[in-house]
Amino acid sequence: MARKPLIAGNWKMNNTVSEAVVLAQEISNGFERDWLDHVDVAVCPPYVDLKPVRTVFEFDKLRIAVGAQNVFWEPSGAYTGEISIPMLREIGCGYCIVGHSERRELFGETNEDINRKVRALVAEQLNPVRPIVCVGESLAVRDEGSYLAYVDAQVRAAFAGVDVSEVAEAVIAYEPIWAIGTGRTATPEQAQEVCAAIRATVTELFGAERAVSMRVLYGGSMNEGNASLLLAQPDIDGGLIGGASLQAKSFLSIVREAL
Ligand code: 13P
Repeated sequence: MARKPLIAGNWKMNNTVSEAVVLAQEISNGFERDWLDHVDVAVCPPYVDLKPVRTVFEFDKLRIAVGAQNVFWEPSGAYTGEISIPMLREIGCGYCIVGHSERRELFGETNEDINRKVRALVAEQLNPVRPIVCVGESLAVRDEGSYLAYVDAQVRAAFAGVDVSEVAEAVIAYEPIWAIGTGRTATPEQAQEVCAAIRATVTELFGAERAVSMRVLYGGSMNEGNASLLLAQPDIDGGLIGGASLQAKSFLSIVREAL
């Protein structure tokens, strides 16, 4: 079964509402509607930008999805500063990044936290906010040679206790930390090796059918120059783009590479 690629822009902590609306409008203006027959596209802006960005795409009747960059697992309550899944769902979020390395490193998210977020996201089958679960090793782990075991353990931890019936819409993104924001992209062979290993882990966890249909993305300094070779790899089903998603031109060029 051919997997439909997904190109998702992670805007990180960039763009005020007014800047976000301008960028969304530029993306919409440059977008050819029929691309969506061949590629799914999402942008993941900061929380406050989600609704305004979604409104731009809705107004233009363009099925570009919006996604959040994080979420809390409880549905409501005394959790100052947090955002819940029902809040994301109501504004039409199609995706939610979970376990980005910046959240793991800078904000102390553990594998256990990430698992709770994944479980909360996949539990809801109606109008799902699909998790984009990020995994990836540091340079130290890569140099030491144990990166496949490391990423395998991250995937198993993220999906612990999740049933095969819940993961149909889940996405995994392999983002080696040494390639994020560094301009040092993984080679297509390096990225393919780990994405294939992730799919093997998914096969063990959920069976071949799910593994064949689940999308595994690559992220880490992906840009218009290197996207084509990365996306040509058999186990790379799209990209999670940071810096290059902040300009409409480069983001749209990457989307075009996925057609
Ligand atoms: P860059 O594309 O800026 O390296 O960021 C990748 C990333 O972290 C996407 O989530």
